Amino acid sequence: MEKNCQELNLRKVAMIGCGFVGSASAFALMQSGLFSEMVLIDADMDRADGEAMDIRHGLPFERPMKIYAGDYDDIVDAAIIIITAGANQKPDETRLDLVHKNVAILRNIIPEISKRGCQGILLIVSNPVDILTYAALKISGFPENRVIGSGTVLDTSRLKYEIGEYLGVDSRSVHAFIIGEHGDSEIAAWSSANVSGVPLRNFYEMRGRHKYEKAAERIADTVKNSAYEIIAKKKATYYGIAMSVRRICEAIVRDEKSILPISSRMHGEYGIDDVVLSMPAIVGKDGLESLVPIDLDEKEQRNLKESADTLKEVLADIDC
Ligand SMILES: NC(=O)c1ccc[n+]([C@@H]2O[C@H](COP(=O)([O-])OP(=O)(O)OC[C@H]3O[C@@H](n4cnc5c(N)ncnc54)[C@H](O)[C@@H]3O)[C@@H](O)[C@H]2O)c1
Repeated sequence: MEKNCQELNLRKVAMIGCGFVGSASAFALMQSGLFSEMVLIDADMDRADGEAMDIRHGLPFERPMKIYAGDYDDIVDAAIIIITAGANQKPDETRLDLVHKNVAILRNIIPEISKRGCQGILLIVSNPVDILTYAALKISGFPENRVIGSGTVLDTSRLKYEIGEYLGVDSRSVHAFIIGEHGDSEIAAWSSANVSGVPLRNFYEMRGRHKYEKAAERIADTVKNSAYEIIAKKKATYYGIAMSVRRICEAIVRDEKSILPISSRMHGEYGIDDVVLSMPAIVGKDGLESLVPIDLDEKEQRNLKESADTLKEVLADIDC
């Protein structure tokens, strides 16, 4: 029997795609205690079933939860539908190289969701995440607050980690964002970065680090190249993104109104329109609540515009 789309189950999550990223994210979500039901879907049904079995065997160490492999009829009432299906980067491939393969996969998946009248929030994780979030928005016809991408939540976490290590301070006390594309044109928003309210430059001085510009450049490069380095070494990245997925779900399920750099559609902010990229945004039970327009200096604004232009060129090529 078809389920009524009004019966949204706030404690239910669906994971579409159970490869490295989907399975690691499902594992992180099982440990989070946020959900009481999780359905796993993959083109390879045995894969989804195997992951569901493996993850649920850990339940006696966690909280009770239903974890199973299913099909699209099982996701109708899910509060959050996470898409991690699709090809991942091979060594030397950029995220944008994946676009045609993964847009085609999305064209199969999204209609299965929209034709069932799902009311949940779509969280796109597959790459290139900004392009795919834009495509998902167009294909689904869902309201913009309900179609978000994991964006630069992972890159921002990498940035905080690197700054924390360099300054010898808890990375949770670091407030800094990577904005723009989740990819090669991403921007570290240094002008607004701080450690517990102390501007980053001043905090560097306080910790005896006097080569601020040089260190900032090195850290931004490390963050930008992290995925390439990890993929070269172990073929895929998944733990960091799994924790990012968990963090975004937490903000939604607990209606936290947390500020996270998810990817969403721009509407003229910083002179950028009709493209999806990452800016800090308030995230709660309805998904995206509103963008938080942080101050950017001239160079950051210019780089953000260039990042948007890069994404627009790709969008022009995919006919969405
Ligand atoms: N946003 C981020 O920060 C971030 C970080 C890491 C990886 N990623 C992206 O996540 C995606 C998945 O990466 P991965 O390492 O898990 O890849 P993977 O190859 O291990 O897994 C992809 C899975 O998708 C499944 N799949 C393919 N087509 C499908 C369809 N039509 N319906 C259902 N399932 C389908 C495959 O069977 C496979 O199990 C990639 O696009 C990767 O670039 C994003």
